[in-house]
Amino acid sequence: MELFDVYPLYNVTPVKAEGVYVWDENNTKYLDFYGGHGVISIGHSHPEYVKSLSEQLTKIGFYSNSIVNPLQQELAHKLGKLSGCENYNLFLCNSGAEANENALKLASFETGKSRIIAFKNAFHGRTSAAVVVTDNPGINAPINLQQKVTFLPLNDIELVIHEIGKGDVAAVIIEGIQGVGGLDEGTAAFFQEVQKECNENSVLLILDEVQSGYGRSGKFFAFQHHHIQPDVITTAKGMGNGFPIGGVLIADKYKAKYGMLGTTFGGNHLACAAGIAVLDMIEKEKLMDNVNEVFQYFSEEIKTVPQIKKVKGKGLMLGVEFDFEVGELRKKLIFDKHIFTGGSNNKNLLRILPPLSAKKEHIDIFINALKEILI
Ligand SMILES: Cc1ncc(COP(=O)(O)O)c(C=O)c1O
Repeated sequence: MELFDVYPLYNVTPVKAEGVYVWDENNTKYLDFYGGHGVISIGHSHPEYVKSLSEQLTKIGFYSNSIVNPLQQELAHKLGKLSGCENYNLFLCNSGAEANENALKLASFETGKSRIIAFKNAFHGRTSAAVVVTDNPGINAPINLQQKVTFLPLNDIELVIHEIGKGDVAAVIIEGIQGVGGLDEGTAAFFQEVQKECNENSVLLILDEVQSGYGRSGKFFAFQHHHIQPDVITTAKGMGNGFPIGGVLIADKYKAKYGMLGTTFGGNHLACAAGIAVLDMIEKEKLMDNVNEVFQYFSEEIKTVPQIKKVKGKGLMLGVEFDFEVGELRKKLIFDKHIFTGGSNNKNLLRILPPLSAKKEHIDIFINALKEILI
């Protein structure tokens, strides 16, 4: 059997990783400024994380959601405390798309309505409802298109008010900072007004923090830069540092019913061990402070690269924009300088998502490599 060939590949084969570095089978060392697609939060193969998962595996790796699993409560408790979202309840699942799928379903259950407002250039995943609210017709199959979604430009509150006014909207879904779209984001005023409009019309506000959450923006969730309290928050990527886990944080006022949501694998013992280790390390190693410090440094140092037109994003969720397409630059960074970076819908933008443990010295390596290539 061959693989179903859906991914265009760079010809690199990582076999080992540690901290912000990965090594290929020839022992070539790469600086990981892509974090495995924004997934690596506390650093590759963090020793405490490895210990926690290994120990858990020797005890019990998995049982179904029909038994008591105290690790789920421990994870929920720690997540509430560290994120400042103690007045939410946690539903555990396995990926970002699944988190958004459940968030949208919950909004539809709660309101009895089905139309969703999403934003231009949004990416929310590839499952049935998540892909419909993703602004990319190319990845929507006819079966997906039965659902109702309206895409609006970011930061146009009048259009949001107009659409919500029609009375058939279940939820507004928005990324804390757009990832795949290219690092655009709502202004604080926009987030606040959307929140107000949602509250006044019993529409749920869903914040997709799958990529921007877990400390990546310098606050636990990116929306916390804007002083709002969404109804539902979705998370995945950095939550497990590579172990598949997702979460839906649901405001206390929405009550659960048995059978309303469910999953076989979500919240299993191994996933919880990974999730708890990640939270413990974010707290113990003060990774959010590190993100803010490194972001300050990056913001200054990047000014020394004259070809850069604009820097977007916050913390260690960054985009550097040029006035040319960055495809070739990314290849040179990987094959000549041994640095992984990411792309986005904006072909002129280099996306940077290093582990949250990256240091100033790694920023220096990246910026020097950029300068050498762009000379
Ligand atoms: C903002 C956002 N939401 C949802 C997803 C989907 O997550 P997953 O690939 O884990 O299903 C992604 C993935 O890139 C994302 O960036």
